[in-house]
Amino acid sequence: MEKFLIRGGNRLKGTVKIGGAKNAALKLMAASILSDDKVVLKNVPKIKDVFIMAKVLEELGMKVDLSDSGTTTITPASSLRYEASYELVNQMRASIIVLGPLLAQVGKAHVALPGGCNIGLRKIDFHLRGLEKLGAKIRVKHGFIEAEATVLKGTNIDFNFPSVGATENILMAAVKAKGTTIIKNAAREPEITDLVYFLKQMGAKIDGAGTSCLVIKGVEKLRPTGEYTVVSDRIEAGTFMVVAVLSGGDVLIQNAPLNLMGMIKNKLIDAGVKINETDGGLRVSRNGEIKPLDIATLPYPGFPTDMQAQMMALLSVANGTSIITENVFENRFMLIDELNRMGANIRVQGPHAIVKGVDSLTGASVRVTDLRGGAALVLAGLAAKGVTEVNDVSHIDRGYENFEIKLKSLGADISRLDEQNSPNA
Ligand code: UD1
Repeated sequence: MEKFLIRGGNRLKGTVKIGGAKNAALKLMAASILSDDKVVLKNVPKIKDVFIMAKVLEELGMKVDLSDSGTTTITPASSLRYEASYELVNQMRASIIVLGPLLAQVGKAHVALPGGCNIGLRKIDFHLRGLEKLGAKIRVKHGFIEAEATVLKGTNIDFNFPSVGATENILMAAVKAKGTTIIKNAAREPEITDLVYFLKQMGAKIDGAGTSCLVIKGVEKLRPTGEYTVVSDRIEAGTFMVVAVLSGGDVLIQNAPLNLMGMIKNKLIDAGVKINETDGGLRVSRNGEIKPLDIATLPYPGFPTDMQAQMMALLSVANGTSIITENVFENRFMLIDELNRMGANIRVQGPHAIVKGVDSLTGASVRVTDLRGGAALVLAGLAAKGVTEVNDVSHIDRGYENFEIKLKSLGADISRLDEQNSPNA
């Protein structure tokens, strides 16, 4: 296991470039299952989850070439297999997303029940019920979802909650179904819109991109995609905005998709963050003290749950008390105990975290429990007095490309070590 050793207190300055969105790249890779031709994706982030998805596709018989430049070429299988193993799905819950495209392409899918971040129940009932409505027969046996469909037929699906993954799975299954599928209360995250644009470039007939009602007219065959560039990662951009502010620095953030970051931008401005749009990117710095906030996570266009932990790190040193309400996942406050070990004053009341701002955090040894919580601990460490050891950083590598290298280039004192090299070992 690896860890980060951080000496806090440096004001971070310089330029950082945001990569492609994890949550879009993974889905575009899965959508390549639907293609009979080569797919070329640009701006694919080099992160652990992408490597796992590449392995999932290779297990299905496809060939995935991930180049250093972020261009990924995916060659179809000569004979597509239909099983995603427990070994891979257990490492990344998002692997469940191959279910829809496999059903559409081979009429069969065996996918292990997912693992992934331990941030709540993360049910998959909407995925399964939606696919059943499209005509699939589904059994869950020995830890595997076994789905089969000789033909998928268009239908109406109305989600109780706008689930990102279920919207995407149904969307990909419906693209080649017979007739029209209407998804109501669809999730509207920008990464889903990216998937819609990609599918449309392949010849899929989809109306309602970016809205909560997607209308998909099934087509028999898709056409070659040509190249497609993955949308920028709004969560990575938001994370670096918090980095700039928390460290009291001044950072130019390139390729941030500000038009997709409405609530993140508004809340940061309310907290006293200065964001200047320049030709070269977003210039982010602090406008005086950090002000307390009320934040409630919600599906897009609400405040994203994937930015909740980073905001908590920021608000832990605000001048006053903030309330953060987590509405999307029921167990996404795991970092609180770790932040409190660093001197934060946070307590949980049901879905609310009450964050009493403290003057400063102090370095401590902390353990990463999930991807975004891990990033938040690094941000806290950068602002803290003294040395912070962030243990088990593999979760962070799932979603941030070269995180510590980018931070170092901004002047952070951070290094990656094997856990055996701990000064306390
Ligand atoms: C995706 C994102 C994740 C983000 C989340 C919410 C990827 C790879 N991951 O996760 O980063 O935090 O959206 O924006 O894109 N639910 C059910 N039944 C279902 C499906 C979901 O009850 O069948 C519930 C979940 O338990 C959760 C909520 O709906 O409480 C939201 O989940 P969902 O939107 O599906 O998130 P993911 O697609 O897993």
